[in-house]
Parts: sequence; structure tokens; C-alpha cells
Amino acid sequence: MTGCPVHRPLPPKPAPRPDKVSLLGYLRLFRRDILSAQPARLYHAWMAEFRTPFFRSYMCNDPALVTRVLNERPDDFPKSNRIGEGLAPLLGRSVFLTNGEEWKRQRRIIDPAFEGGRLKDTYPAMLAAGQAAVARLSEGEVEVEEAMSHAAADVIFRTLFSIPIENEVAARVFHEFRAYQRTQPILNLAAFLPLPRWMPRLHRRATRRSAALIRGLIAQLTAERAAAIAAGTAPDDLATKIMTTADPQTGERFDASEMVDQVAIFFLAGHETSASALAWTLYLLALYPEVQDEVAAEARSLGDSPDFAAVGRLKRARDVFRETLRLYPPVPMMVRENRCPEDFRGRKVAPGAQVVLSPWHLHRHDRLWANPDAFDPARWQTEAGRQSARDAFLPFSAGPRVCTGAAFAMIEGPLLLALLLRSFRFDRIEGADPVPVAHLTVRAENGIRLRVTRRAA
Ligand code: HEM
Repeated sequence: MTGCPVHRPLPPKPAPRPDKVSLLGYLRLFRRDILSAQPARLYHAWMAEFRTPFFRSYMCNDPALVTRVLNERPDDFPKSNRIGEGLAPLLGRSVFLTNGEEWKRQRRIIDPAFEGGRLKDTYPAMLAAGQAAVARLSEGEVEVEEAMSHAAADVIFRTLFSIPIENEVAARVFHEFRAYQRTQPILNLAAFLPLPRWMPRLHRRATRRSAALIRGLIAQLTAERAAAIAAGTAPDDLATKIMTTADPQTGERFDASEMVDQVAIFFLAGHETSASALAWTLYLLALYPEVQDEVAAEARSLGDSPDFAAVGRLKRARDVFRETLRLYPPVPMMVRENRCPEDFRGRKVAPGAQVVLSPWHLHRHDRLWANPDAFDPARWQTEAGRQSARDAFLPFSAGPRVCTGAAFAMIEGPLLLALLLRSFRFDRIEGADPVPVAHLTVRAENGIRLRVTRRAA
């Protein structure tokens, strides 16, 4: 596969802030976006300490520290409550927010539904959503972030509840989520803000109303599903799998309200992230048309309805998707809190500090990747690239708390790309290159506009 031609511009990267800014200046940058609020030295440093008037934060780029936090002693680095405070109105006590025994029990019930073998059952619904996305797309100028949000939301509804996005309740949930994100754009950033603990709790009224509405709609879907399970008429989709799975240790199942919490996070974590990755991939393919042609050629070797095994053969599409996840990780940063006194590279860290793991910085770290800012899908077929990935590739996090949907997303991404590129070509629009900003996920400041044309049959 061709690498990144040297004469091409590098993919867009936010301008870092100057090394020293005032607290007020920092807050202002944060409001704008978390990425340009960070100094350039973080792409080279193994660790950085941020002192705020209210708490300390440590960003860890040293792979050994990341492994300690995520893989070796995850129970000693629970999710920070500061994150939970921002998300709780929508997500309740979902698996994304809980810790300790409660979280372990939830994962024991959820994980089996996402296991490799069972993903095969989910595949036809994913394929149908991909085909619907192709049918929906028209020629001309298209805002692909929006188109991909629509497609990824459709994937979630079809795989979870066997309903397409056109279903009335599904369409309302999708619509409300968009409204929710507009009212709460700095949702998951509370943990970095140098503000007292009570500040992020001041949810705006519109946010609370939006969250209540979404939860009401999801409650309707889960109640209907519970009735269908009881009547023996439920389809064998993700919702049924999860609602009928008993915790192997206690024999308990999720009750209706717990299921609402989980569905809310599947929807939020599963559609925003995939949509962001797909949209950035389309943009990168428009920026590097020769790579796009290769992915399209590979995709054309598939039939109209590729089966599950065929997705495994989409090697170029997978490398391109992984390279996009590296350059534009949809979840740019994750936060934990240390329970015990720690020694981080010789620095003593008192309990209660915010431990920040940043896929954004790790993936572009100049000591961990060759040519880190370049788009080079070919790196994934080299030993050096694989070694870098083992040390510093965390788009789905790692360890026991790894994204439950990682395998799902690695099928969905290449599949949707292949289906789209079989039929369409995507071209850059001069002067409309996107600027990445991190709100809930890494997005483009003004969307991603591309020119879409149908490929000759
Ligand atoms: C490209 C797509 C995706 C990316 C990049 C992604 C990324 C992530 C990351 C980084 C986390 C860890 C967050 C943290 O620890 O703070 C996470 C957690 C999670 N993701 Fe994904 N995700 C993707 C797709 C999905 C999908 C499709 C689903 C479900 C259908 C999903 C469900 C979840 C859930 C439930 C969690 C919480 C796991 C836990 O805390 O135990 N994600 N995801």
C-alpha cells in the first residue's frame, strides 16, 4: 500500500497553546476545545503535571505508566467522579460511570453479547444499516459528520433493538441526543477544568430536560422488549441478549431501569465515536485520493452483500480505519483517580489526583511513533508500526475496562467504508478543510464537507 507522499500536506492538527498562559486564558481555551488548550511539549514528554488551585492532574504518556493504570492495577485507578457528575443525568449508573463491584457485575452481563462469535449474529443488522447509508447518500456537497452520525445511529438501533433509524422512537432519540450535545458541549471535560468539585454539577436546565426525554424514550423501548421476551416473541438482537443474560456469579439480570442506563451508554458511546472515526476517514481519503482508490478497488472485489467473513478480507480498509483512529482518536482523553500514594517516574503523587491518559497525545508522540503526524496506513503492515501500536495505540482504551464495543467497531468501520467507497468517491472542497476540536468526541469545528460523486459501475 502506498505511504503518505511527502509533498502532500499533513492532516490537520490543532495549533497548540503557548507554554505559559494565565488561568483565565487556560479556561477560555478549554471552553473552545481541550486540544488547543494543551502545549506542544506534551507530544514529546513522558509525563506532565498540572497544578490547579483545587487539584493536581498528571498526564501519563510513558507506556509503563499507562499499563500500570489500565492493565496492572485498574482497581487502584477508578474512574474519576468528576466525569460522572457531568454525565449522570443522562447515563444514570451505566457501566461507563460505575466502579468496583457494581461495574464488574455489569461487565459480566454485558460482555458476552459483544463476544466475537456472537458478533456474527449482529452482522446482518450492521450490513443492512450500511446499505441504507449508501442508499441515503446523494451526490453533491455533503456534511459527512452528520451523514455518518445518522449511519452510526442506525447501526446501533438495528443491532440493539432490530429497528431502523426511521422508526419513530429511534428517530426521536437520535434527534434529542443531538440537542443534548449542543447544550452540553464540554460534557466530559469537567475532570480537567481547574474548578472546584461542585461546579460541574450545575447542569443547565435544558440539559436535564433533554436527558429526561431521552431516558423516557429508551424506557419505552426496553419495556416493550421486556414484554416481548416474556411473550417469547423477542428478536435475538443485542438488547435481548443482554436482558436475558444472568450474572454467572449471582444469577441476577438487569432490571428495567438498569437496562435504560446501559442502553443510553451504548447509544452515546457507540454512535458518536464511530461517526467521528468514519467522517475523519472519509476526509483523509479525500486528502489522499490514491489511497482512496486502493480502498475502493478492494471494496469492489466484494459482492453486494458481503458476508461476515468477507469483512476480514478488507485489509486496506482496516489499515486506513486504524490510521484514522490513531490520528483522530474519537475519545481523545480518559481520566482516572489514584486511590493510593503513587510514584510516577520518581514523582510522588498523593491519592485523589486526576490521572489523565491521552490517546490524542500518545498516538502522535514523537518518541513512540515514526513520522507521527503523517497519514501512513502502510505503517500497520510494518514491524515498527506494530511495535508502536503495542506501546501507544489506545483508541478503545485497554485492560479490563477496554471499550465493550471495540470488536464491533472494528467490523462496523471497515464495512461501512467499503460499502460507501464501492459506490461513491469523496473529494476535498478547496478552503473547507476541517479543524479538529474535542468536545464530547473529536469533531471538526465546522463539520466535514466533502464533494460526493457516484463511481461509474
Ligand atoms: C470507533 C468507535 C469507538 C471508539 C473509538 C470507542 C472508544 C471507547 C473508549 C476509549 C472507551 C473507554 C473510556 C474510558 O475508560 O474513559 C470506551 C468505553 C466504552 N465503549 Fe466504546 N468506543 C467505540 C465504539 C463503541 C461501540 C460501538 C459501543 C457499543 C455498542 C461502545 C460501548 C462502550 C461502552 C459500554 C464503554 C464503557 C466500558 C466500561 O467503562 O467498562 N463503544 N469506548
